[in-house]
Amino acid sequence: MTYTITTPLYYVNDKPHLGSVYTTIICDTLAKFYRLKGEKVLFITGVDEHGLKIQRTSQENGLTPKEHCDEITNIFYSNWKNWNITFDKFIRTSSNHHLSIVHEFYKRVKRSNDIYMGVQKGWYCVGCEEFKDNPDNSSSYQCPIHKKPLEWKNEENLFFRLSKYQREIEDLVNNPEFIKPKERRNEIKNFVSRGLKDFSISRTNLSWGISVPDERGHTFYVWFDALLGYISAISLNEGDKSLDGSISHGWPANLHLIGKDILRFHAVYWPAMLLSAGIKPPQKVFGHGFLTREGIKMGKSLGNVLDPNVLLTKYGEDRVRWYLLKDISLGSDGDFQAKRFVDIVNNDLANTIGNLLNRTTSMSRKWFNDSVPTGINLNDDSFQELTDKTITSYFTNFENDDISQSCTIVLNFAIKINLYLNDKKPWVLIKEEINRNEVKQIIYNVLEANRLIALLLNPILTDLSNRILEQLSQKGIENKSWNEKLVWGLLEPGINLPKPVPVIEKLEYE
Ligand code: MSP
Repeated sequence: MTYTITTPLYYVNDKPHLGSVYTTIICDTLAKFYRLKGEKVLFITGVDEHGLKIQRTSQENGLTPKEHCDEITNIFYSNWKNWNITFDKFIRTSSNHHLSIVHEFYKRVKRSNDIYMGVQKGWYCVGCEEFKDNPDNSSSYQCPIHKKPLEWKNEENLFFRLSKYQREIEDLVNNPEFIKPKERRNEIKNFVSRGLKDFSISRTNLSWGISVPDERGHTFYVWFDALLGYISAISLNEGDKSLDGSISHGWPANLHLIGKDILRFHAVYWPAMLLSAGIKPPQKVFGHGFLTREGIKMGKSLGNVLDPNVLLTKYGEDRVRWYLLKDISLGSDGDFQAKRFVDIVNNDLANTIGNLLNRTTSMSRKWFNDSVPTGINLNDDSFQELTDKTITSYFTNFENDDISQSCTIVLNFAIKINLYLNDKKPWVLIKEEINRNEVKQIIYNVLEANRLIALLLNPILTDLSNRILEQLSQKGIENKSWNEKLVWGLLEPGINLPKPVPVIEKLEYE
């Protein structure tokens, strides 16, 4: 069985911002977690390149849509590489491969008699690429998200019979496992209970899109096209490039991780489109919260967008990942505060985790011949129990997509080990030869705990985890061996320890 996880396919109107980095890092962490557990993972990301928004942006930049997309898509691709994102597939919706999947899919939906020609009238937000419900206040025809005027559209479009799937979609959204978190499920349930309306899936007067077969002048509505990217991604660079080929190699997706603003598309429109084509809906859609900066939503017009590349160069991936993954509970909105960032990464990573390792390896080298002590009890009961509990709840939380809680569990384990070390004071005990065996045991316990901390950090902060393991003379982790290594007492007594180097430095306030 393949575990298929997707990020949204990002609009290429601009280069990635911290919001897109946030979603991608979460998916990367989950993908790594399932890989380490030994599962076959398919991690899909990519870009959404068609539509009016991109067409207009490229015009404003004096480029053709293709030139514009090539430029921004390259930036997305190289950014994910710079962040060491371990995606398996990167799909571009302007690719020929994607086009043929969209055409094949459309034919199936048409065969189900779910397509008809109608007239679409309404207020459209180009930023959202979405028709809005009638604005409450007719004097302000503005998108509440983009704060830009809505545009009136009145054109002949092809429609998809969403209303036909009312009952199936009701059943789906009532399934407590389908939409997460719970609060978001209620929003969608309310929306569905008001009655689903057919929606238009083609546009006229839009050249930058995929043409609709046999309908001159019509291109597909960008969302109809983009959602299919999740499926076309699967067969990208594979032998069987057909729709069935894609579906048989990793569909249905286990998790679409998206922002809360695009939940309706993923939890209502997309499953109905799939049902119409005789394809299973995704298993779970998780709508995460928004990132704000010092309490204010990040936006270009507000001039408070945080450039993720600046953060990466200045602080490195581990620190940024830790802040985003640990400090923001998945599903809630999160605020990026410079002071809090420094406090958290210094306390958690540099002091609690890094310093614990550094001082213990130094003591071990000094007192035990540059090595891990020998002649100790590898089966200390109290540590086995603590470790088992820690590992079990770490796994349970990860499997419930509660990454923040899993991070906290690792941190709390490290805090307990720090308390143990400070309480035992081996630096005092070692002064009396009679205590030597006790000191050996204490040092071993703390070193072994560090090994486990590193292993548990691996899907979250891979780089830091590997640096800790190196300091303990441990080889990297191979998939499938992770579970076997997550057992107390496997650090080999007597192995040589390298000269200690800090695994993560403290940051200064700016
Ligand atoms: N192209 C569509 C998705 C199509 S999926 C088949 C799209 N793209 S987007 O680039 O505008 O948004 C991508 C994701 O970024 C969305 O999930 C959105 O919620 C998220 N975010 C945009 N701003 C954000 C923040 N400030 N914080 C966190 N996520 C945010 O929608």
